[in-house]
Amino acid sequence: MKNNKPLIDQVALVTGASSGIGRAIAMAMGNAGAKVAVNYVSSEEAAYRVVHDIKLSGGKAMAVRADVSREDQVRAMYEEIVNEYETIDILVNNAGVQKDSNFTDMTLEQWQRVIDINLTGAFLCAREAAREFIHRGVVPERSKAAGKIIFISSVHEVIPWAGHVNYAASKGGIMLLMKSIAQELAPQKIRVNSIGPGAIKTRINRAAWETPEAEADLLRLIPYGRVGDPDDIGKVAVWLASDESDYITGTTIFADGGMLLYPGFATGG
Ligand code: BGC
Repeated sequence: MKNNKPLIDQVALVTGASSGIGRAIAMAMGNAGAKVAVNYVSSEEAAYRVVHDIKLSGGKAMAVRADVSREDQVRAMYEEIVNEYETIDILVNNAGVQKDSNFTDMTLEQWQRVIDINLTGAFLCAREAAREFIHRGVVPERSKAAGKIIFISSVHEVIPWAGHVNYAASKGGIMLLMKSIAQELAPQKIRVNSIGPGAIKTRINRAAWETPEAEADLLRLIPYGRVGDPDDIGKVAVWLASDESDYITGTTIFADGGMLLYPGFATGG
């Protein structure tokens, strides 16, 4: 039973789960047996559709609204989930935005919004999760760990990105946020890791793949020769949340079709 439902009886919160990578992760966690809290901020209908789809495939799910950058809303969201499902075993910090601009024109608002959601939101959700994990401790029938935190980072935690400095700074910040929390919480049996997606076909980067010309351009950056699918990330998230990866903490797993392999050097340098 545990083999095909590695997350059975565990509760997973996925932030920004009404669309894109978050939706795929929520679905994958549901299929793996977890009870899923589907967080959204404005797309209520889409979030309820994800809940519906998880239930259709035999899983359990609830929708929960919160702006992850707001401390009061994050606290209320955790309370709501704990009231419904008793605890939380897995947090996937997925909620994220891009507000692109060339550097000299970037407004403080564009900078702040991205840092607030991508970095501060991840901090707030991780802190609440860690408090719950420590308070509850390890439940051996469910998992060897007291809890698992997964950040959805990006290849841009290491690849500089002109025209997107707010986004790249938020992801670079996530890298050391993740590692520092991992270092601090390992003795309490909490595993903290990131997934670093490359180009995955979602709304956030539609312009980069929606025309054949754009896609051909993008593929020059991806040695493996295809743009990623949200399910590529869902599968990694389930594995990283399961006891199959019990000895892994403080690491970013890049799922990027080789984007980080400096493809320009394949024929140059
Ligand atoms: C960004 C996408 C981009 C990808 C690869 C992601 O983190 O959100 O817009 O296509 O990185 O550059």
